[in-house]
Amino acid sequence: MRILSGIQSSGRLHLGNYYGAIRQFLELQYEGEALYFIANLHALTTIRDGNLLRQLTRDVAASYLALGLDPERAILFRQSDVPEHSELFWLLGSVVPLSDLKNAHSYKDKVAKGERPNFGLFAYPVLMAADILIYASDVVPVGQDQRQHVELARDWAGKFNATFVPGYRADDPEGLRGGVPGVLKLPAARILDETAVVPGVDGQKMSKSYDNTIQLFAPDKAVKKAIMGIKTDSTPVEAPKPTEGSALYALLKLMADPADFAELDRRWRAGGEGYGVFKQQLLDLFHATFDDARARHTELERDPAEVERVLQAGAERARELASQVLAAVKRAAGC
Ligand code: ADP
Ligand code: TRP
Repeated sequence: MRILSGIQSSGRLHLGNYYGAIRQFLELQYEGEALYFIANLHALTTIRDGNLLRQLTRDVAASYLALGLDPERAILFRQSDVPEHSELFWLLGSVVPLSDLKNAHSYKDKVAKGERPNFGLFAYPVLMAADILIYASDVVPVGQDQRQHVELARDWAGKFNATFVPGYRADDPEGLRGGVPGVLKLPAARILDETAVVPGVDGQKMSKSYDNTIQLFAPDKAVKKAIMGIKTDSTPVEAPKPTEGSALYALLKLMADPADFAELDRRWRAGGEGYGVFKQQLLDLFHATFDDARARHTELERDPAEVERVLQAGAERARELASQVLAAVKRAAGC
């Protein structure tokens, strides 16, 4: 089974990214041949500063390595180091209906928010489809918000095959029942646990665009400031604390192991302790969970050449796989 996913390098990683996505990616590296790449070409639709993008791309790579991505097992690389993605982007684009792109909600949402659309934003799903299809990926683990993109990739792969592969049958895409196999394999999304929406310090979904994150690799002081700044209500110290709608409670539940959480939960409901005590508990949990990774991240920050080496080696392995699919696609299309 080939597993593939991309991570945009549009900001620094936070607790929401870890519990919502990264943790599952790390587990999946033991279940098949995993490819994870830093989607720096996609990030170009938001980051318009070359030095910053270079830095963020390396930082995201270092973060994955620090958190336990094993580069001997999973292939980690930078999207722009594998030009085959961009080449397939064009070939595939020739069969993509304009209406699919106009209806893609990533595009519609941004336009609705008043962003001035450019071609990059519009064509974003086609590049993402190329990212997936260029490796003949079987499974694409993503958050709920990316489901539509993976479905589009699947539709367009079928369309490309139907257009360019004589004898291809939509009901037999791999040619297992007498048909001719397609040159592009149809991928399936694996939607990560939908209930795992990690709240930010203000109680909304944690997101770098809301400026409410707890960053995994921020300096100690900044982490403390973020955690101590979690919004709480005015329940008096001695009173039992409400659980509903409390970001602090939700974050404790997310991070503590179940037995420890049962005890925290009891104290929370009993009253007699202020929110500050629970924030300190969360801070302790944060450090207990991430300090090893934080130390590795610091080491990697001091050794950018090592991160670069991993990315280069990853790109080489990725290109070997990508060039095979691209060759078949070009042959089919007559290029
Ligand atoms: P952000 O919202 O900070 O820009 P991204 O959109 O780059 O984050 O998300 C990268 C991955 O992390 C996605 O798979 C997304 O589903 C996951 N993710 C981001 N924020 C959260 C959150 N608050 N809770 C759960 N998962 C999240
Ligand atoms: N669009 C994805 C996101 O914002 C990132 C991404 C780019 C991706 N290419 C991909 C994810 C290919 C899975 C497969 O999270």
